[in-house]
Amino acid sequence: MDPNVRPENMERITTPELAEKFIAEQVAAIKAQVKDKKVLLALSGGVDSSVVAALLIKAIGKNLVCVHVNHGLLRKGEPEQVIKVFRDEMDANLIYVDAVDRFLDKLAGVKEPETKRKIIGAEFIRVFEEEARKLKDISFLAQGTIYPDILESKDGVKAHHNVGGLPEDLKFELVEPVKLLFKDEVRVVGKALGLPDNMVYRQPFPGPGLGVRCVGAITRERLEVVREADAILREEFAKNGLQGKVWQYFTIVPDFKSVGVNEKGERTEGYLVVLRAINTRDAMSATVAEIPFALLSHITDRITHEVKGVNRVAFDLTPKPTGTIEWE
Ligand code: XMP
Repeated sequence: MDPNVRPENMERITTPELAEKFIAEQVAAIKAQVKDKKVLLALSGGVDSSVVAALLIKAIGKNLVCVHVNHGLLRKGEPEQVIKVFRDEMDANLIYVDAVDRFLDKLAGVKEPETKRKIIGAEFIRVFEEEARKLKDISFLAQGTIYPDILESKDGVKAHHNVGGLPEDLKFELVEPVKLLFKDEVRVVGKALGLPDNMVYRQPFPGPGLGVRCVGAITRERLEVVREADAILREEFAKNGLQGKVWQYFTIVPDFKSVGVNEKGERTEGYLVVLRAINTRDAMSATVAEIPFALLSHITDRITHEVKGVNRVAFDLTPKPTGTIEWE
């Protein structure tokens, strides 16, 4: 039996009971595989890596070493939540790496979207490698691979490794407890493991994070604008019952300023915040979500008054195609 093929008779995990059964099986399988050895995991705070972390903590406790790399491109409150949930509440062995300056210095002045992605990806592996080398007796690497990743890499759509690219002498045996699960099943398992809802039902967030939403060369000032505006958008969507209903929503800040006028009648030059809210099944195509005009106006009012340096807000009306979901 190919361990990377989901058996035809495998039941879809849709209930807490089925999730508990899966958790018990995986905890036993993990214990049998790793015994008293140590396992390393890059914990981003996304659904997949968080569920893998919670499963491994249940199975092997402190023998799981989680590394959370803050590359400075995470959303507001994310690194804090990873620390709170995993270190404080689950008592995990968590290494927090503040690599913000390192990433932003490398990205300074870089405009080209694919070059930005490559720098972020390569630097991430370098930081993770450095942490792995500091730890002496690690035998395994846990990854949040899920079934669509396996299917896509089989089809040649993309080579999928969450922490691919580690040098030869750092090749660990893999632990991939959710590799036969679909995303909806990972969420049911995460809920059963006691992870908070905003982690379990989190909207997709690209690996390069806010870096691809801070269009062109990233500056700390504009990154702060994207982050604060995104936090307001998420807060208002949650308050107004749209969280979990709209598939993905976020803000983008282009790299130019436009002219405006403030309440005192003075001329301003400020950034434009673009709101994007889309629905999709598979992210290959997308429609624009219909958001009540009054809510869009309220969000505009909050962003222009609460986020420093912003004098204009726009809503992106473009489906995919012709626009991609992200702007870069
Ligand atoms: P696009 O912009 O291609 O986005 O229409 C489709 C979906 O993929 C996400 N996305 C990424 N995810 N690394 C990721 O892990 C990336 O570089 C990346 N670029 C886009 C995007 O957020 C959307 O859900």
